[in-house]
Amino acid sequence: VLHSSSKGTVEAEPDGLVLVGKEDDIKNSQRITAKVNGREVVVFYHEGKFHALDSRCYHEGGPLNLGEIEDIDGQPCIVCPWHKYVITLETGEGLYEGINPLEPSPTPRWQSKGVKQRIHKVTVNNGNVYVSPPDLSVSFDSDYFADKYKNNGDLAL
Ligand code: FES
Repeated sequence: VLHSSSKGTVEAEPDGLVLVGKEDDIKNSQRITAKVNGREVVVFYHEGKFHALDSRCYHEGGPLNLGEIEDIDGQPCIVCPWHKYVITLETGEGLYEGINPLEPSPTPRWQSKGVKQRIHKVTVNNGNVYVSPPDLSVSFDSDYFADKYKNNGDLAL
């Protein structure tokens, strides 16, 4: 939350936001992992934007922090290293390539399965990067693995 103080300067009030790192460091490394309220989150810096998602893939819990980012159908996506599921960085949608067998010459097209991976709001303030705590009144498929790996020591494989 940003608000003006009596002196007229704008101050940051990180209200429950979780500090995940320095803006410059994440811009350099392009990705980091962090714990946000006990859950593993990956923060990517890609083409000038920060994106935060649950780090455990909604399919079977694969480590998205170790995946490659690919541009698919004009959208930056993370490809899970385990079984190559494709998830959009912007919305957490799972994409799949489907064909319509009724077309004269069926061509695969990317389609959405809906939002499968929980994304997290990122706030950059004063050189610091913050992630908002998740709103658990809404659920996503990735929550199962976020819970399963919650408070696990390591973010490795
Ligand atoms: Fe990510 Fe299977 S665990 S694709």
